[in-house]
Amino acid sequence: MKPLIRSVKGVHDVLPDQAAVFAKIERQCIDCFARSGYEEIRLPVLEHMDLFVRSIGGASDIVQKEMFNFEDKRGDILALRPEGTASCARAVIEHSLTATSCRLWYRGVFFRRERPQKGRQRQFHQFGVEVFGIPDVAIEAEVIALTALLWKRLGLNGLKLKINTLGDEKTRRLYCEELVAWLRPRSNHLDADSLRRLDSNPLRILDSKDPGTLELLRQAPTISGFMDAESRRQFEQLRGMLTDAGLVFESDPLLVRGLDYYSGMVFEWSGAGDGAQSAVCAGGRYDGLVERLGGRPTPAVGCAFGIERISQLPDIMEPPENFADIYFIAAGTSAMAESHRLAFRLREQLPDLHIVVDCLGRSFKSQMRRADKANARLAVILGENEIKRNVVAVRDMRKSNEQVNVPYEKLSSYVAEAVVS
Ligand code: HAM
Repeated sequence: MKPLIRSVKGVHDVLPDQAAVFAKIERQCIDCFARSGYEEIRLPVLEHMDLFVRSIGGASDIVQKEMFNFEDKRGDILALRPEGTASCARAVIEHSLTATSCRLWYRGVFFRRERPQKGRQRQFHQFGVEVFGIPDVAIEAEVIALTALLWKRLGLNGLKLKINTLGDEKTRRLYCEELVAWLRPRSNHLDADSLRRLDSNPLRILDSKDPGTLELLRQAPTISGFMDAESRRQFEQLRGMLTDAGLVFESDPLLVRGLDYYSGMVFEWSGAGDGAQSAVCAGGRYDGLVERLGGRPTPAVGCAFGIERISQLPDIMEPPENFADIYFIAAGTSAMAESHRLAFRLREQLPDLHIVVDCLGRSFKSQMRRADKANARLAVILGENEIKRNVVAVRDMRKSNEQVNVPYEKLSSYVAEAVVS
C-alpha cells in the first residue's frame, strides 16, 4: 500500500456533522446582521504580506511568528490572511466604499501558524463584521448588542463580556512609558514572551496568560489612570448604552487585544476557562487603520468570532438531524437510472423537498435501513416490475406496512400531498 497523505498539521477537515453545525451558526450570523443593515463582502484569502505588517503591527505575534507567507514567482511577498479586518479596510479604500458609511460582514477561512490545540487551529473559520465611517459611540454599542443577540439566538447563555478602552494615542504612549518603567525593575518575574515585549510591544504584556506575570500585573499601574477626558466620557456613554440594552459586562483594564490597530474601545466575549482559547469573539474600534493603509481618516469598529470555538461550546444547539422527505430505493441498474430521472423531475417540481437517491444499491433491506437512518418520510421504491408498469411503490415510513402504487405522472402531486399531511 502507498503511504497515506494526511491533512497538514493544525489544518482540519470539517466533517458533515460539524459542517451542519457551522452552517446553522453562519445562517444565524447572516440573518442577525443582514436584518440590521450589514452587507456581505467577499475578501481574498491571499494578500500582500505588507498589508498585515502595516495593520496588525510588525511586533505582533501574528506577524512575528504566525503568518503563512511566501515569495511568489515574481518576487512578491504574499500571505494567507490571518484575519479579516485589514483586508476589509484595504477593500474599502480600494473601491471607495465609504462615501457615506458602510456596514459589512464576511466569513471564511483564516490562517495562523500557532501551536495547534483544542480551539486553536492553523486554519480556522471566522465570521466578522466591520463598520466604516461612523464615529458615534452608538455604533460600538450596536456591534456589541448584535453579538449578544446572536448568542441568544444560538442558545448560548454562559458567555462573559469584558470591555475596556485604550484611550487616545497620547494616553497609550504615556501609559506604555509608565508600564515599562514599572515592570523593568521587576522583570525577573516576567515570562519569556513578556520580557521580549518589554521593548517591542509593552501593551501586549497585559495579555499574558502566565500566572507569575499575571500576579505581577495585578499590582501594576492601569491604563485608566492615564485616560484622556474624551475617551473617559465616551467609555462612560458606552457603558450606559450597554446597560440600557440589558447587557451584563465587566470593565477590565487589562484587556488590550493582540492587534496593533485598535484605538479606543475594545471588547471580548469568552466562554468558561482562562486560556486564550476561551475567547470566542473579539473586536473594538480602530479609527487609525484606514489612514495607516493609505486612505482618508475614517472611524471604524468591528469584531470577529471563531466558528470552531462557538461550535464547541457546551450549550450550542444540537447538529440538525439527517432528514429526507423522499428516499428513492432501486433494485437493479435500470431502476437506479429511472430513480435518478424521476428524482431530477421531482426536484424541479417540488424544490423545497429533501430528495435523496440511494446510490449504493445492494439489497432492498439495506437500502430500507439507510432510508430509516436518513429519517425519510416516504420511500419511493422501483424495480423491474414497476418500470414495466410506469409506476413506483410509495411506502409511508411512519406507517411501516402501508405501501401504494403511484403512476409516474401522479408522483409529484401524491408526494406533495403526503408530505404536507
Ligand atoms: P482575534 O481576536 O485575533 O481578532 O480573532 C477573533 C476570534 O477568532 C477569536 O476570538 C477566536 O474565536 C477566533 N480565532 C482566532 N485565532 C484562532 C485560531 N488559531 N483557531 C481558532 N479560532 C481562532 C481578529 O481576528 C480581529 N480581526 C477581530 C476584529 C474585527 N476586530 C475588529 N474587527
